[in-house]
Amino acid sequence: MDIERDAGFHDPRLAALYDVLDPDRSDLDAYLAIVAERSARSVLDLGCGTGTLALLLAARGLDVVGVDPAAASLEVARGKPGAAAVRWLCGDASTLPPLAVDLVTMTGNAAQAIISPAAWSATLAGVRAALRPGGTFVVETREPARQGWREWTRDRSSTSTEVAGVGLVVSWHELTEVAPPLVSFRSTCVLPDGVELVSDSTLRFRDRAGVTADLEAHGYVVDEVRGAPDRPGRELVFLARRP
Ligand SMILES: C[S@@+](CC[C@H](N)C(=O)[O-])C[C@H]1O[C@@H](n2cnc3c(N)ncnc32)[C@H](O)[C@@H]1O
Repeated sequence: MDIERDAGFHDPRLAALYDVLDPDRSDLDAYLAIVAERSARSVLDLGCGTGTLALLLAARGLDVVGVDPAAASLEVARGKPGAAAVRWLCGDASTLPPLAVDLVTMTGNAAQAIISPAAWSATLAGVRAALRPGGTFVVETREPARQGWREWTRDRSSTSTEVAGVGLVVSWHELTEVAPPLVSFRSTCVLPDGVELVSDSTLRFRDRAGVTADLEAHGYVVDEVRGAPDRPGRELVFLARRP
């Protein structure tokens, strides 16, 4: 599968800052609630990044597999307390071993990092194959109509964070190209010694009808589309079942 190799996930220096620069993960509460609602006992977290959700689920006694193409992000995940309880795999939905999990999650807009239609199709097929019959794929994507990227300016996104053992890190995002459904932006982190770490990203914004059609074309039944409670009107969360 063709993978976008954003430095933000693949550069060990930036992967190590991911959690520190975005510490509020209350967005994951909604996923913990869905896992409980669906009585899932086994979960594949696809695009697990630095592993926050996978570790929360493993701490609740679930059988968890965390998969991500960014080895540097997985290294951060593997170094966290409780990491031995999760099976971490470097790869994507097209490289999975045989699985039959109750639920697959794609959070933090990992789905939007999949740009090409071929990679998206391979992801939907790979996830379906990894679910047991009756299992659920929970995938979020930002609502394109909201045009949230308008807020991705240096002024509005700039933060200064005191990072233990590093010092003050200044970071911001700025748009580099808006060509819906694709939106590109540059993230910059300036370290205390003045070193600038830059990551260029492109995200695909898919709308509700498009994702529903894609899921149905790959053999899912879309049970529900929710908003994310922490970002009303900004996110679409699909609950799609393998019949
Ligand atoms: C914004 S991060 C979100 C990480 C994590 N889910 C979270 O909520 O913190 C997006 C993640 O998607 C991963 N990713 C990129 N392409 C992917 C693909 N084709 N399949 C699965 N994950 C992918 C990136 O490596 C990155 O870790």
